[in-house]
Amino acid sequence: MTGFFIALEGSEGAGKSTQARLLAEWLEAAGHSVLLTREPGGTDVGEQVRHVLLAPGAYAILPETETLLYAAARAQHVREVLLPALAAGWVVVCDRYVDSTLAYQGGGRGLPLTALLQVQEFATGGLLPDLRLLLDLPVNVGLARRLAGPDAVNHLDRAGVAFHERVRSAYLDLIAADPAGWAVVDADGPPEVVGKRVVEVVAERLPMSPRADSDGLTRDDRATVVETR
Ligand code: TMP
Repeated sequence: MTGFFIALEGSEGAGKSTQARLLAEWLEAAGHSVLLTREPGGTDVGEQVRHVLLAPGAYAILPETETLLYAAARAQHVREVLLPALAAGWVVVCDRYVDSTLAYQGGGRGLPLTALLQVQEFATGGLLPDLRLLLDLPVNVGLARRLAGPDAVNHLDRAGVAFHERVRSAYLDLIAADPAGWAVVDADGPPEVVGKRVVEVVAERLPMSPRADSDGLTRDDRATVVETR
């Protein structure tokens, strides 16, 4: 693997998707080949699974089913998109990855961590981010932002404050267990201000120099993958 894999994590309303886009733009402007993608999603199959998981449907999805659906989308994403991009030396910016399952299905839904980790190992073949970034925000601030914003409200936004508090503390526990793998960014503030904090952290950790990384791929190849979102 010659690329660099950044996963953006956070609770609802932390502004991850905006920050993922701003970060990808900054990386591109700095001369890197960048793949911006998201979970669940990032592939045609993954986007279909996303719809099943997040559409405000008439069915209730059990925590175990939910876990396996996120893992199914992830398995496809890893092999179809992430591994080829990393092998080609790109910087991958992924809006959510494995730690979302550990925080939401583990912390939020209360499923045991050992089982979740086994499923993740199978789904990802062991692919882990080089850097995990938590956009951290008090739960009430995030939920208020999300409910006031233009994004469709999904079933997890309606899960209740206690659920989201458990998600946030699960993230903080994951960070306490592996502080070197993570960076925490204060997500309170206007997007440009938070964006500067994100860029500062990434610039410090990113080992690759721009343009040493493109491995013969053209802008068109890059665009094709970005459009699979
Ligand atoms: P988002 O893209 O707006 O953050 O929405 C994705 C939702 O899916 C969010 O509520 C978190 C949830 N989620 C999980 O519960 N587990 C997972 O593994 C992933 C990737 C997302």
